[in-house]
Amino acid sequence: MISPILCRSPRVTIVGAGRVGSTLAQRIAEKNLADVVLLDIVEGMPQGLALDLMEARGIELHHRQIIGTNDYADTSDSEIVVITAGIPRKPGMSRDDLLKINAKIVVEAAKSAIAHSPNAIFIVVTNPLDVMTYLAWEATGLPRHRVMGMAGVLDSARFETFIALELGVLPADVKAMVLGSHGDLMVPLSRYATVNGIPITELLDSATIARLVERTRNGGAEIVELMRTGGAFFAPASAASVMVESILLNQSRLLPVATYLQGEYGLDDVVIGVPCRLGCGGIEKVLELHLTDGEGEALQMSAQSVRNNINRAQEILNG
Ligand code: NAI
Ligand code: 2OP
Repeated sequence: MISPILCRSPRVTIVGAGRVGSTLAQRIAEKNLADVVLLDIVEGMPQGLALDLMEARGIELHHRQIIGTNDYADTSDSEIVVITAGIPRKPGMSRDDLLKINAKIVVEAAKSAIAHSPNAIFIVVTNPLDVMTYLAWEATGLPRHRVMGMAGVLDSARFETFIALELGVLPADVKAMVLGSHGDLMVPLSRYATVNGIPITELLDSATIARLVERTRNGGAEIVELMRTGGAFFAPASAASVMVESILLNQSRLLPVATYLQGEYGLDDVVIGVPCRLGCGGIEKVLELHLTDGEGEALQMSAQSVRNNINRAQEILNG
C-alpha cells in the first residue's frame, strides 16, 4: 500500500481572500509550496479567484490545487492557516471601531479554522497585528509556538529596501531586523543592519540612518497615502509566504515574528515581534538579543501599547 503521506500535498488555508490573501495564494502556489484553500465570506469571490489561479497553472508550471470556498469544512486538515480576514481602517473610523470589527472576525476565524484543522500552525496578518495574534492564540487554545503574527518580516524588508536604495546596492545583500509592534512604535535595529556583513553605521551617517528608520516606521502609511484605495499587499504577501515556506520546508530561518512572550525581554503575557527560529513545528526558539538601553526602552514602550490594546479588545469582546 502506498503511504498516504505520498498522496497528499500540504494544505494552506487562507482566511480572507482580499488583496493580501489572494496574492499570498498566488505566491504559495507559484513557489509550488502547497495546495491552497482560499476562504472568504463573500460568496463566489474566492471561487472565482481560485479558478483564475488554477487557469494559470499550465503557464506558471506548477501543479498545486487552489480551492475557493465559503465553508470551513473545505479547509479541513490544513497544515497552516493564515488569517488575513478583516477590514482596513477607513476615513472617519476610530482605532476602537477597527479593533472591534477585526477582533470579532479574527476570533471567529481562528475558532472555525482550528475546529477543522486541529494540528495547524496559525499565522495572523490582520491588523492591528500584535493584538489580533494574541486574540487568535487565546481563541485557538494552542501552545504559543503554533500561533504567530506576520509583520517583522515585512517591516525588515522595507528597512532593507530603503537602505539598498540609499546605497545603490542589491536589496538581497542588505540584512536588517525590525522588532516590536507593527506600527509607529516598531523598533528597527540599525546597529544590527548590514550590507554583506558590513554594518550600515560604517556606510551611512546617523542622520541618514534616522531618516530611513523613520521611513520604515511609516512604511504602511506611505503606501496608503499613495494608493488612496487601500494598503500594501505585494510585499505583505511575500513576507507571509517566507514564513509559510520556512515552516513547510523546515528551513529553520531566523525571522522577526510576532509571538507570545513568557518572560523573554522582560515581557510577559503580550505578543510582540522578536527574532524566532521557524521550522516544521512552528516557532522552535525565541532568540533573546542583547539590546542597548534605548532599544530595550523602545521595546518596552511598544509592548505597553500592545498590552493596552489587548485589554481594550478583551473589554470589547466581553461586552
Ligand atoms: P482586503 O479588504 O482586500 O481583504 C480582506 C478580506 O477579508 C475581504 O475579502 C473580506 O471579504 C474578508 N473578510 C471579512 N470578514 C471576513 C470573515 N468574517 N471571514 C472571512 N473573510 C472575511 O484587505 P487586505 O488588503 O487583504 O488586508 C487584510 C488585512 O491585513 C487588513 O487587516 C490589513 O490591515 C492587514 N495587513 C497587515 C499587514 C501586516 O504586516 N501584518 C500588511 C498588510 C495588510
Ligand atoms: C502595512 O504595513 C498597513 O500593516 C499594513 O502595509
